[in-house]
Amino acid sequence: MPAPSVSIAKGGGTHGAGPRHVAIIMDGNGRWAKKRLLPRAMGHRKGVEAVRKLVRSLRGTGIDALTLYAFSSENWKRTEEEIADLTTLMKHFIRSDLGEMIENGVKLRIIGDHSAFDPEAVALIDDALARTAHNTGTVLTVALNYGAQQEIARAAAAAAQAGVVTVDTISAHLDTADLPPLDLLIRTSGEIRLSNFLLWQAAYAELYFTDVLWPDFTPEHFQEAVASFGARERRYGGR
Ligand code: FPP
Repeated sequence: MPAPSVSIAKGGGTHGAGPRHVAIIMDGNGRWAKKRLLPRAMGHRKGVEAVRKLVRSLRGTGIDALTLYAFSSENWKRTEEEIADLTTLMKHFIRSDLGEMIENGVKLRIIGDHSAFDPEAVALIDDALARTAHNTGTVLTVALNYGAQQEIARAAAAAAQAGVVTVDTISAHLDTADLPPLDLLIRTSGEIRLSNFLLWQAAYAELYFTDVLWPDFTPEHFQEAVASFGARERRYGGR
């Protein structure tokens, strides 16, 4: 019987190569703060520092794309105060770090619908997207107001609208269509689930779970995850 014609875009990692595209569910900011009797906002603030250090550390590594889950479509259920804290931190991050990202060739991308945030945040994000659009270094994708099931439903509807619904046409309509295939998905803080993040893209990704809380997650922890990826053999359903 002939093999079915499902094409699987192969990412890095076969024959010992490192991952090209790594995604992270940055979890544990609240617990980090609670352990220290600090407000949750402090955990998020430390979380942003961990993001900054990690992005800086990627220069010169083989990682082409880093995708971070910063705000899920379910995070609107958090208190108004926490949503405001997270929005303020994101605005501050863009104001303080955009110059450095431009200098280092980082290309910023957003998946999800960031238009739901306040107009000032939307304007800052749009400006940052425009000013980094032609950069050719690491692609830093931030998931904002993102839900994978919603993304898949939108992509399937767009494929149907165009008249052909296949794995390839749905993939081509995902928010991540122009990113390399996802190789490695990391989740911090000891939770073992995907929480509606990159469900389609994770089909052949290696999964890596660590107990480290996100604010404590260092570039060295990241390199440990990358090393564990290098030690695994990816078979994509074959033998
Ligand atoms: C999960 O911790 C973390 C979040 C919901 C937000 C992650 C956001 C950041 C690290 C900052 C913004 C990012 C960028 C790119 C500037 P939690 O609050 O669910 O922790 P808990 O499960 O311990 O309560």
